[in-house]
Amino acid sequence: MIRIKIITIVGARPQFIKAAPVSRAVIEHNKAAGEQRIEEIILHSGQHFDEKMSEVFFKELNIPAPQYNLGVQGGSHGAMTGRMLERIEAVLLKENPDLVIVYGDTNTTLAGALAASKLNIKIAHIEAGLRSWNKQMPEEINRILTDHLSAFLFCPTVQAVENLKKEGIQKNVFHSGDVMFDAALLAASLSDKHNLILKKTGLQKGAYFLATLHRAENTDNEIRLKSILSALNELSVQKPVVLPIHPRTIKKIRAFGLESLTPNLKIIDPVSFLEMVALEKNAALILTDSGGVQKEAYFHGIPCITLRDETEWIETIETGWNILAGCDVNKILKACQKRSKGTPILEYGTGNASQKIINTLNP
Ligand code: UD1
Ligand code: UDP
Repeated sequence: MIRIKIITIVGARPQFIKAAPVSRAVIEHNKAAGEQRIEEIILHSGQHFDEKMSEVFFKELNIPAPQYNLGVQGGSHGAMTGRMLERIEAVLLKENPDLVIVYGDTNTTLAGALAASKLNIKIAHIEAGLRSWNKQMPEEINRILTDHLSAFLFCPTVQAVENLKKEGIQKNVFHSGDVMFDAALLAASLSDKHNLILKKTGLQKGAYFLATLHRAENTDNEIRLKSILSALNELSVQKPVVLPIHPRTIKKIRAFGLESLTPNLKIIDPVSFLEMVALEKNAALILTDSGGVQKEAYFHGIPCITLRDETEWIETIETGWNILAGCDVNKILKACQKRSKGTPILEYGTGNASQKIINTLNP
């Protein structure tokens, strides 16, 4: 007998990856109970829509197909969030779920949380409590508001629990561990054949740098974007630099006319998650402004340079796995010389964060 009906709201690449182990935990929970205790319906906002930014993850990670795709993409933050809010509300009214699950800090997260809260539907926020302390970032606003609307807050780190406490949120706050670590283990269990990506891109194990770049604060600021591309260009003299490129970044490189800084970089289309894991595991070093990639560097034991001025994942810095280098060419090059491996980070858990979350939601 169904005890709880959940609508999972996703829309951006990292959310598909986070949702994969959680959906799997739902299926396993039902299997262990011998009946369907939890019904999960997946709603895709449409925020990411290219095949390589969306569909590939559902296929590769066996995520149940979304029952709804709202097709909301592009536009200003307000317009995008507003259109999502209206369309998510219509689905929630139709489906009348007991609970909505949202992930992380995108516009989809905030729209989902707002739509649910206006209908008095409980919200579970996975990856709650993270803070960059930089309110210029749209993500910081999205995560603060979502945390304050949520009934269940699942924190990946101890610091995240502390951050919520400082904002007066203590009820139903759980240190679950990081579902992205679960996703990394899921990837390892799925296949190794994606090592083919190395062959395809002409890279040798341990002999290249992997970079990703998509944060609005970097891509939409010509000076910062130019500076980071210049640093990557300089690094490519030492070793090939492979850059699976986010659609935002390629658009901005063209808009600012910075193509002259890219010929020495191996710019490739966005890759699937299993391909990305293969690229991460075999890199000499990872340079990124992605939240997820900073941690994956640690999961795979690869030193990381973060191309931002702050990070929500401060334990990666404190344990010595990650160096904050911002966008300054010299700082980035210096950090690359200093890179070293760090000490273990236990607070991400043992790979059962998703299971813990589902057991908490349906004891
Ligand atoms: C969003 C999130 C960010 C997250 C990132 C993950 C917000 C505010 N930002 O940023 O926190 O780290 O996703 O990747 O929600 N585009 C395409 N094809 C796609 C997807 C996007 O062309 O499949 C284009 C969009 O049309 C837009 C640009 O890329 O012009 C940016 O997309 P958007 O979803 O607004 O923000 P992201 O930079 O992806
Ligand atoms: N990723 C991927 N293919 C790529 C680039 C990234 O599968 O070409 C994965 C990466 O391994 C991580 C997630 O996408 O799991 C991170 O997403 P992104 O950097 O877009 O967003 P963020 O984590 O910064 O919100």
